[in-house]
Order: sequence, then structure tokens, then C-alpha cells
Amino acid sequence: MTRLSGRVAVVTGGARGIGAATAVRLAEEGAQIAVFDLPDVACTATVAAVQAAGSTALAVPCDVTDRQQVDAAFQQVVETWGKVDVLVNNAGIVRDNLLFKMTDEDWESVVAVHLRGAFLCTRAAQRWMVAQRWGKVVNVSSTSALGNRGQANYAAAKAGLQGLTRTLAMELGPFNINVNAVAPGFIETEMTRATATRLGLTMDEFKRQAAAQIPLRRVGQPRDVAHVIAFLCSEEASFVNGQVIYVSGGP
Ligand SMILES: NC(=O)c1ccc[n+]([C@@H]2O[C@H](COP(=O)([O-])OP(=O)(O)OC[C@H]3O[C@@H](n4cnc5c(N)ncnc54)[C@H](O)[C@@H]3O)[C@@H](O)[C@H]2O)c1
Repeated sequence: MTRLSGRVAVVTGGARGIGAATAVRLAEEGAQIAVFDLPDVACTATVAAVQAAGSTALAVPCDVTDRQQVDAAFQQVVETWGKVDVLVNNAGIVRDNLLFKMTDEDWESVVAVHLRGAFLCTRAAQRWMVAQRWGKVVNVSSTSALGNRGQANYAAAKAGLQGLTRTLAMELGPFNINVNAVAPGFIETEMTRATATRLGLTMDEFKRQAAAQIPLRRVGQPRDVAHVIAFLCSEEASFVNGQVIYVSGGP
């Protein structure tokens, strides 16, 4: 499909996992992809996968918590392709701990990547989106926004992203910019693999336990989320604004 041909999309945290799958899925729709990830993280696999999908990719080193890096990264995209049409705020980390063991650093680093990162990137991107009166922003929230033991920092940040989504939908809607969120449940990535290790489980056992609690009786794959993000970036979804779509195999 070519629902996004001629469009320029930025995917943060695009080196792997849900971000990498989203980069490829948007490339399949015809978009050119700027892959933002930490300066010490290689994006070569995603760039190659985007090219294999028939599009072009630009790897942009960018820590989304750093305003100067974010502004410079968007500048680089605009200098290369002249505009920014789509932004997927996907970069994320977890630092799980029960509250009494949660350090200031656990709290601040998680809130910084998810919330400050989405704020800085969207503020940078809207400059070009508003000027051209066209834009799509998709924030990656989580089912943890509804509460999850051991994730006070992450749950607060992911719930915060939902408030940010609804508010920016109101502020940017008049400029023909749609702002929506996806809220994945258990998706098989390095993030869930690291959680399995921390819990002392094999990935297969962790997936089996998770799947037993999910009505569809399976865990999700990165592409399950990428398909919904691609839909939210398409013209078919042009009257969908300020919504959170759960991609979790159940209500
Ligand atoms: N995997 C799941 O089950 C799940 C469920 C719900 C939501 N999510 C969310 O989906 C998003 C992607 O998760 P994933 O499972 O693919 O994780 P992942 O750990 O595989 O990938 C996250 C990517 O973000 C990058 N990143 C981290 N900090 C960054 C920063 N400061 N600046 C730029 N990039 C940074 C990492 O380098 C990595 O490439 C995250 O926001 C996560 O919270 C994941």
C-alpha cells in the first residue's frame, strides 16, 4: 500500500522492537523514515529493513530527553527531506521497582524518556506540521497506564502520555494535525525479554504466563502495534483524534 507515499516520518526508539517494526510498516506505506535512537545505539538493522521495504531511511542519533539533540535531529530531517509529516513517540525504558525500593533515578529517567521525550519531539515537529496544515502524531502508551504493580514510574508516565495526547489533539486539531495514542499490552521485544530475565523466567515461560491472562491467548508481536500506528497515520483515520487504542488482545 502507498497510503503515506511522499510523507516523511520520524520514529523515536526506532532501532529495535516496536519502533523498528513501525519504521518498516510506515516504509511499506511509502513514507521515508528518520530513525531516532540513542547516540550509542546502532540503527543499521532498521535502516536496512526500511530499504528492503522499498523506501529510504536516515539514522539520526538523538537522546529524546535532550532538547538540543531533539531540535538538532529535527533540523537534520528537515534539511534532508524538507519537512516532517508523521511523528511516532515510541522511545521507552523501564526501571521497575516497588515504590519503597524505587530510586529518584528510577522515577526521573522513566518519566524523562516517555514524557519529556514526547513533549520535546512533538514541540519540535509541530513547527513544520502547523506550517503545512498536515500532521500525524502517535504516542506509544501502554496498558500499564491503567496501573501495574512495580511500575509506578512507568504507569504514571504512560498515563501522562494519554493526557498529553488528548490535550495536543485539542491544540493541534485546528491545524489538521491528528494526535492519537496506542496502548500495547504484552509485546514480545527486548523490553519484555529483559523483564523475564529480571523475574528469573525464561522468555517462553514468561510468554506462556502472560498469554494465559490474555483473551486471545497469545502475546503480541511488534507488527501488531505497527499496523495500528500505520492506520492512525493514514487518511482513513483522518477523523480519529485524541484517542487511545489498546492493542493488547483483550479489553
Ligand atoms: N514491549 C511491550 O510489551 C510494551 C508494552 C506497552 C508499551 N510498550 C512501549 O513501546 C515502546 C517500545 O518498546 P519496545 O518493547 O520496543 O522496547 P525496546 O526496549 O525493544 O526498544 C526501545 C527503544 O527505545 C530506545 N530508547 C531508549 N531511551 C531512549 C532515548 N532517551 N532516546 C532515544 N531512544 C531511546 C532504545 O535504545 C530502544 O531502541 C516503549 O515506549 C514501551 O514503553 C512496550
